[in-house]
Amino acid sequence: MAEKVTAPEIMKMKRTGAKITALTAYDYSFARILDDAGIDILLVGDSLGSVIQGHESTLPVTLEEMIYHTRAVARGRKRALVVADMPFLSYQVSLEEAKRNAGRFLREGGAEAVKIEGGVQMLETIEAIVQMGIPVMGHVGLTPQSIHRFGGYKVQGKEKEDREKIIQDALAVEEGGAFSVVLEGIPMDLAQEITRRVSIPTIGIGAGMHCDGQVLVVHDMLGLFDMYTPKFVKRYAELRDVMADAVKRFIAEVREGSFPDDEHSFH
Ligand code: KIV
Repeated sequence: MAEKVTAPEIMKMKRTGAKITALTAYDYSFARILDDAGIDILLVGDSLGSVIQGHESTLPVTLEEMIYHTRAVARGRKRALVVADMPFLSYQVSLEEAKRNAGRFLREGGAEAVKIEGGVQMLETIEAIVQMGIPVMGHVGLTPQSIHRFGGYKVQGKEKEDREKIIQDALAVEEGGAFSVVLEGIPMDLAQEITRRVSIPTIGIGAGMHCDGQVLVVHDMLGLFDMYTPKFVKRYAELRDVMADAVKRFIAEVREGSFPDDEHSFH
């Protein structure tokens, strides 16, 4: 397996045609498992608002919470690139705040890059953060922090006008100097066109097979989160069932007195 993954290394993967793999991680134990398995990018996503905190959207997640989780993930990482999601209100208000908050993810969180949502509107912000020496991952299409503007988690870019807007957003992310861009919840032919038109790697989630890489929320793909499963999620395991079964066996064994046994006791 290659050496430590870096932002330039991720950019190189587009040129060599090597597919980029990314999963979300929110804590030390998961980060270690994913890193040992060979994942390229550990994304500390603000999706933790749903799968860790139980919120209905990513909007309530705070900067301090994101830094806390990033720090835990960074401690479990050896090879993967750690990218921290900048939460709602941490980069939209002013360039000064965006720069300071992005810097905190590196200094306090141990991240190696940050992700921000938005394209044309965020061009200046991306540029300003990149100029500080911080690699930025863009995120266009269905951007969950704009959920109220979209009126729900709906596939974006189906209409011609909207499609053109998303292309312009992706081009703006590239122009701002980002090292990669997440394409979320868009038709696969649109993702294909963007992947062809931008020189930076596209990392898809619900954007089809033509992207340069793929990302999923780890709780979704492992079958840990069962509140809803979007069409684009493939469940590679049913860990909720495995865990529930283990917990039921523990309860039964404690109740019947077969745990702890001699083997699990001190003499
Ligand atoms: O927050 C997140 O997990 C994300 C990915 C879904 C791309 O932004």
